[in-house]
Amino acid sequence: STNIRAKLEAEQGAKSGLLVVSDMQSAGRGRRGRSWESPAGTNIYYTLMLKPDFSSDCAPMLTLVMALAVAKGIRQTLRRDSAEAAAKVGIKWPNDIVVDGKKVCGILTEMSAQMDYVNHIVIGIGINVHNESFPEEIAPVATSLYMETGEHFNRAALIEEVWEQFEHYYAIFMETEDLSGLVKEYDAHLVNRNQIVKVLDPKEPFEGKAMGITPRGELIVDTWESRRLVSAGEVSVRGVYGYV
Ligand code: BTN
Repeated sequence: STNIRAKLEAEQGAKSGLLVVSDMQSAGRGRRGRSWESPAGTNIYYTLMLKPDFSSDCAPMLTLVMALAVAKGIRQTLRRDSAEAAAKVGIKWPNDIVVDGKKVCGILTEMSAQMDYVNHIVIGIGINVHNESFPEEIAPVATSLYMETGEHFNRAALIEEVWEQFEHYYAIFMETEDLSGLVKEYDAHLVNRNQIVKVLDPKEPFEGKAMGITPRGELIVDTWESRRLVSAGEVSVRGVYGYV
């Protein structure tokens, strides 16, 4: 797992900005303790490690900054072959990248922090590039860039494209240490926007219309009786008819 490797390097003194890239992972990890299939020669698996000088409550917002960078990077890359596929790239809040409603990328952010100090943050990115199919259980919700376009992609070039986008968005994020400068662009990519979503809050699930995000990265959901702000990490959000 490039996340595990990045954390080890961070603990051993690596500088902020380290990028760990691998052709395959034998212990690829997804969110909520799931595993992440990581065959060789096929996809993109990498982790960015940062040792930022901000408080730990900024960390979840960084995941949204990265989601925006990946969505934009994929969009720019697809635009060269298929403007039609590029237009279908979006973000499912908070940080899944989708093409035509199916997941093409997942992001796993992990942090080591003390009460008032962030030791390091690792942001792990898995992009499905050349998969030709998926196992039955995830086939309805998963796709790859190849499946969407019929094209092959240079994986290093795509990593570089996302990296450049991240540098740009990260600089904007750091000006205010929140997403105020990015809300508009994030919302423009948000596939849940103006859709009815189910908020899977274990205490009290509810439905409402997703309106966009706040400068802190919460999803704004209007129910029939009130406006609610949903924090990433606490709950997951689904479309009423499926994944998006
Ligand atoms: C998700 O469940 O959606 C998040 C998947 C994150 C996968 C990437 S692949 C590179 C990095 N290393 C890991 O072990 N996981 C992340």
